[in-house]
Amino acid sequence: MSTVAAAVPHFARIRPSAPAFSYDLAVVVPTFNEADNVERIVASLDLALDGIRYEIVFVDDWSGDGTAARIAAIAADRTDIRVIRRFDRRGLSSAVIEGMMATMAPIVAVIDGDGQHDEKLLPRLFALVRSGNADVAIGSRYCANGSTGNWDSLRLRCSRAATRLSQMVLQSPVADPMSGFFVVRRDRVEALLPRLSGRGFKILFDLLSSSPEPLRAIELPFEFRARTAGESKLGTGVVLDYLVTIADRLIRRVLPPRLVMFATVGTLGLGVHVAVLRAMLAFENMRFATAQTVAVLIAIAFNFLINNAVTFRDRTLKGWRFVAGLGSFYAVCGIGALANVGIGVVLFSEHHRWWVSGVAGALVGSLWNFGAAMLVTWRKR
Ligand code: GDD
Ligand code: MN
Repeated sequence: MSTVAAAVPHFARIRPSAPAFSYDLAVVVPTFNEADNVERIVASLDLALDGIRYEIVFVDDWSGDGTAARIAAIAADRTDIRVIRRFDRRGLSSAVIEGMMATMAPIVAVIDGDGQHDEKLLPRLFALVRSGNADVAIGSRYCANGSTGNWDSLRLRCSRAATRLSQMVLQSPVADPMSGFFVVRRDRVEALLPRLSGRGFKILFDLLSSSPEPLRAIELPFEFRARTAGESKLGTGVVLDYLVTIADRLIRRVLPPRLVMFATVGTLGLGVHVAVLRAMLAFENMRFATAQTVAVLIAIAFNFLINNAVTFRDRTLKGWRFVAGLGSFYAVCGIGALANVGIGVVLFSEHHRWWVSGVAGALVGSLWNFGAAMLVTWRKR
């Protein structure tokens, strides 16, 4: 018998028969310059998670202080600790997302690497998600009995204000949507991935605010501890990122992206109109009315083309549908123009200022155009 043949049954025997090497929980620990904290976080997780099959996934953004080497030293004789090392990348949220997607465990936890979160809460958070009682279980500083520990009043006020801001955006009431400490089902995160901003610090807020139907969240209180070593990375850049995310979410809520796109195309169309008008008037003896008419027809066709390719790219019209669509779009815009003029004239006759009347007419006309384009020209089939 050849050595290979002899090796095959042996190989088959040592291959684990599935569950022996699968984990029920992955703890994702983002780190940036936390060299002096990683031993402690591993030891405290080991202690807290006794009895749970878990792995620890560090995501380190190429820390200059040797964090990854310190993790490697601890992980040397263990298969349940890994470190994902990202080069030339920064960002707590994106690090957490990548850690979550790198594990096969059905449930993932996120905890800071600096010891400020109370890991003793993890088994209860894990149980809430595993039992199906919650999609996400949050270690909370702001629900009853939670605490931020000994923060100075400035940081406390900033954190409170940021929290209130985020609560305006969320449909479901969560006392601490900015917590960096939570447990969630991995498939939930996976489903939301295309919608996440992935920017900045607020991964939990990102998840909560991206979900079309509110995630079922449960919060358990803990006291935010003082940092043992190293320093916080929450700087002005992070705060700015956060404000951008909030603005983005608010705008999306009030103004659907398609409407914003449609309005942008309309504005570009105005530019096309003016350019065509200018070019036509360059011809000697071209009447203004003729030039204006040609400019309108071309501007509408321009709007149609761009909206067809971009704004309604999920419903792009082709072939005969394209021709019929262009026709219906001319009709839609014609009615919009009538509504525009009509409303302007009525308001002006009621002694509203000229520009109020004009802008109101234009707004109603444009909204009509958008609604009708959506329901007629690019209707769902
Ligand atoms: N991989 C990676 N990349 N990790 C990062 C980065 C980064 O760019 N920035 C920070 N971290 C890691 C830190 O090393 C630490 O383990 C954890 O993320 C939290 O960072 P801190 O800098 O300690 O944040 P904090 O304590 O000021 O903020 C805490 O409270 C915030 C809400 O007030 C954290 O829990 C935040 O998650 C939370 O949003
Ligand atoms: Mn911290």
